[in-house]
This record gives sequence, structure tokens and C-alpha cells, in this order.
Amino acid sequence: MITRELLKVVDVNIPAPQYVLLKLDAGKPMKGLIPGMFYELRAPSQAGRLFKPISILEVEDHLLSFLIKVIGAGTEAFAHLKAGDGVEALGPLGNGFPSINGRRVLLVSGGAGYPPLAWLKREADEAEFCLHLHGCATADEVFPCDLLYTVDGSQGHKGLVTDSVESLISDHKIDLVLSCGPVPMLAKLTNICIQVEHYVSMEAYMACGIGVCHGCAIPVDSDYKLVCKDGPVFDATRIRWSEL
Ligand SMILES: Cc1cc2nc3c(=O)[nH]c(=O)nc-3n(C[C@H](O)[C@H](O)[C@H](O)COP(=O)(O)OP(=O)(O)OC[C@H]3O[C@@H](n4cnc5c(N)ncnc54)[C@H](O)[C@@H]3O)c2cc1C
Ligand code: FES
Repeated sequence: MITRELLKVVDVNIPAPQYVLLKLDAGKPMKGLIPGMFYELRAPSQAGRLFKPISILEVEDHLLSFLIKVIGAGTEAFAHLKAGDGVEALGPLGNGFPSINGRRVLLVSGGAGYPPLAWLKREADEAEFCLHLHGCATADEVFPCDLLYTVDGSQGHKGLVTDSVESLISDHKIDLVLSCGPVPMLAKLTNICIQVEHYVSMEAYMACGIGVCHGCAIPVDSDYKLVCKDGPVFDATRIRWSEL
């Protein structure tokens, strides 16, 4: 059930420059959540401004964790929170990724697209095979994964996270690719994954988060779909990438 509540901050950490790891107490065991689902969150200093859509990183009974990249005022406000503060939370929202049960899966994340794939990787036991690739600009944005790519080569492989996807798909007989990151990365992956099922978690500017304002519409099939209500996870082949 979607609720709008004030959730108590249990912990705030800076795990990497420009990132905040926020743990909130949902006040009750959180059941039935799926990787790819998100919350609309707002720090108290942002009252009157828009909520910020943030994917769930981890669920531990009544605790919800979020990994947030600070890029503007709304996300920066989370970095100034302290344990005991309240955060306005609307959620859980969105559809989440399809099951990886029994599949041979490649998880591909870029930058702040890391959280839902990291959650899926923790459930890798369900899959027949599961490899998590993460790509970022520099060593400053590195988080645990199986194969790391940095654009400047400061850690892991030098290059883009998409560089070896084609050969990994064929070497490991991958039958499902799940991805989240910047649009150019997702579009490139879609071109690579012609023969493989591929689902993407899309980003969009959001206002209401519940399908009312239509601010998050993206071109899907011959129509438009709402990232907050119909997504954020979509079959990549259904998105009209050239119109984004
Ligand atoms: C479903 C969903 C899940 C998300 N999950 C996470 C998450 O787990 N962790 C995380 O760090 N971020 C996540 N985001 C992105 C996050 O919501 C935005 O970074 C945040 O709303 C920016 O707010 P702001 O007020 O800090 O910056 P703003 O002031 O809104 O923007 C600062 C700058 O960034 C640009 N910008 C802002 N949002 C976007 C966007 N969506 N795409 C491209 N450019 C943008 C603006 O044009 C501006 O130049 C998610 C987004 C969606 C839609
Ligand atoms: S954010 Fe309002 S419809 Fe999606």
C-alpha cells in the first residue's frame, strides 16, 4: 500500500564523495518490495519543494536504505540530515524489475543507477548465473560489484560499462539483462541486447510520483507511458529511444 509518512532517519553516511547513504525506519516490517521500486523523498529543509524519486537500495525488516548522489538542492538536503530527523516519504512506488529466478542474468548499472542492481545482486542465489557490472566516471564513485569500469581508468577497467557486454552475453549465455543508469548508456545497451531480453529502469523528472501530473511521460510503443506509474522498469525494446 502506498503511504505518505514521516520516516525517522536511523543513520546517515557519506560512503563516497557526492553520495549519501540514508537509512530510514519504516516503522513496520516492509514486505513485498521488489528491486527497482522507489520512494518519493523530501528532507524537511525542502518543505514546499518537489519530492525526489529515489530507488530502494536495501530492505532489512523495518529499515529502508537509499544511496543518493548529490546533484542539486533536493539531494544535497539529504546530506545534512542527522539520526532522529524526519524525512517525508511517499511510497513504495513503481513496478520493479522482473524476477531473476533461474535466469542467466547480467546486471548493468551506471553512476547513481547503482542501487536497484546492487539489491538484485544480493538476491543472486535465485539466479542460475548473475554478474553485476558497474560503470562510473572516476574512482570516487566506486561501489561493490563484480566488474568495475571507470571512464578515466582510475580503478577497474578503463572505459564504459557497455564495452564488454556483447562478449559477456555470449561467453556466459546470458538470457536476461537488467540495467539502470544514464539514457545514453541504456540506449547503447538496447542496441547490443538485440537477441536478449532487456529491461531498463528509466529516470525522469517527477512531480507527483503517482500518475497525476503526467510530468514523467516517456515515449513507449506508439504512445507515452508514465515512469512513476507504468515504470520505472520497461522492456527496453518498447521505448522510442531516439525521441528521448
Ligand atoms: C525512479 C527513479 C529512481 C531514482 N533513484 C535514484 C537513486 O537511487 N539515487 C540517486 O542518486 N538518484 C536517483 N534518481 C535521480 C534523482 O531523483 C535525481 O538526481 C534528483 O531528483 C535530483 O534532484 P535535485 O534537487 O538534487 O537536483 P535538481 O536541482 O533537480 O537538478 C540538478 C541538475 O541535475 C539535472 N537533473 C536532475 N534530475 C535529472 C534526471 N532525472 N535526469 C537527468 N538530469 C537530471 C538537472 O537538469 C540539473 O542540471 C532516481 C530518479 C528516478 C526517476
Ligand atoms: S510524476 Fe506525476 S505523473 Fe509521474
